[in-house]
Amino acid sequence: MNPAATLTPAQIAQFRADGFLALPSITTPDEVAQLREIFDRLFAEGAGWAKGAQFDLAGTDDGRRPALPQILNPAEFAPELLATEFRRNALAIARQLLGPEAEPWFEHAILKPPRYGAATPWHQDEAHRDDPGVAYEQLSVWMPLQEATEANGCMRFIARSHLGPVLPHRSPGDDPRVTALECTGDFAPANAIPCPLPPGGATIHHCRTLHAAGPNGSDLPRRAYILAFRSAGRPDTEFRGYPWNMEKRTAAQARHAAWENRGGALGRASRAAAKAGAGMLRRVRGKVARLLRG
Ligand code: NI
Repeated sequence: MNPAATLTPAQIAQFRADGFLALPSITTPDEVAQLREIFDRLFAEGAGWAKGAQFDLAGTDDGRRPALPQILNPAEFAPELLATEFRRNALAIARQLLGPEAEPWFEHAILKPPRYGAATPWHQDEAHRDDPGVAYEQLSVWMPLQEATEANGCMRFIARSHLGPVLPHRSPGDDPRVTALECTGDFAPANAIPCPLPPGGATIHHCRTLHAAGPNGSDLPRRAYILAFRSAGRPDTEFRGYPWNMEKRTAAQARHAAWENRGGALGRASRAAAKAGAGMLRRVRGKVARLLRG
């Protein structure tokens, strides 16, 4: 099957009506195989851990084996991810759905380890929104790097939930050290529509669409690569942020802050050293010049 580079009018209408869409193919089998290798390397070497870009979405990073490891913006650690057919096709589709100004927004790599990978709680992606003062639409393109089944944690959606408001959310277990969010609003998980996919297939969902994914009860890792896109923004003075985000205190946030501080301190130290070095070089040159003259 040829990878989808654009959606048909019927697929666009379905996305608008339901808030999600499943595609049998968005890239080639060769690329999926390459991505699996890249993902396995990045997770094995702990890429991004020190700066808080890799963390356990479902845990507290307290030394126990992570139940839902995630890497934010993995292309920062594997620049070859910037040149994929998946990225090109996903951007073309995002522009069909969000308008020609739609741009890549962020991306993440998720590994659901075999037999103990945790469920992803029910949530709306818009509940994670943490940038007051601006409004935009967002969608995510979710691609599994192996088959995604109900047994290993394929995506599940509540159709038409994108037409309602952002519902209340909380940290799982009311523990603000956990990065994930779970919806506490009124909806019927029994009406969920599971979307099993072949490797290199994709689901596309709107930022308000309620979704979840089950645990991985299979013997193989369940890897997924998610690209998020956003429309052009417009000012929104009403939106000041959600309480469930303001109370977050995650270990990844702390690692990120420490990493930024170290970068700042190192930057200042190296600028001071460069200045001192330049002064010393001038004095040595002066001394040599005087010796030569003398
Ligand atoms: Ni999500």
